[in-house]
Amino acid sequence: MILGRLLLIQTVRVYTKQCTPPTCNSHGTQPPIVLTPTQSHRYNTKYGVYKGPYCGLRNVHMSFGHDEYLFRVLQHAGTTLPPAALFIIRYHSFYALHQHDAYDYLLDDYDRELLPWLKRFQPFDLYSKSDTPMDVEKLKPYYMGLLAKYFPKFELQW
Ligand SMILES: [Fe+2]
Repeated sequence: MILGRLLLIQTVRVYTKQCTPPTCNSHGTQPPIVLTPTQSHRYNTKYGVYKGPYCGLRNVHMSFGHDEYLFRVLQHAGTTLPPAALFIIRYHSFYALHQHDAYDYLLDDYDRELLPWLKRFQPFDLYSKSDTPMDVEKLKPYYMGLLAKYFPKFELQW
C-alpha cells in the first residue's frame, strides 16, 4: 500500500513504458515486454506516446518498482534530500539508463545534470554490502543526525 492505494511493485529492474524498449539487454531475467497490435501502433516507436526528444524522465511512464515507491514516500514526507539523491533513489534500478546509456533521447537538461551522480552511486548498490554485522549503537548517532537533517518532520508513511 502507498498512500492508501494497493499497487503492484516490480522488484528488480525498471524500464520505460509506452515507447520502444532499448536495444540493449537491460531487463535481466524479466520477461520481454509484449505489446498488443494496438499498443504496437501507438507505443512501438522511438518516442512512443511522449512528446518528441528530450521530454525529461519525470514525464516518462516507468514500470513501478521499489525505486519509485521510495521516491514517492520520501517526497510525501517532505524530505530535504538534494535533487541528486532523489534522482539516484528514483532511477537506481533503471539499468538501461545508467549501464547502457539508452534513452539519451528522452533525457532533458535536468536529467543530464544528475545522471553522473547516479553513475557514481552504482558501484555501491548491488553486491557491495559487507557480511560483517554493524554496531548499531555506535552508528545510531550518525544516522539519527542524517534523519534530523533530511527528514525535518521525522515521519514516514509507508
Ligand atoms: Fe534498490
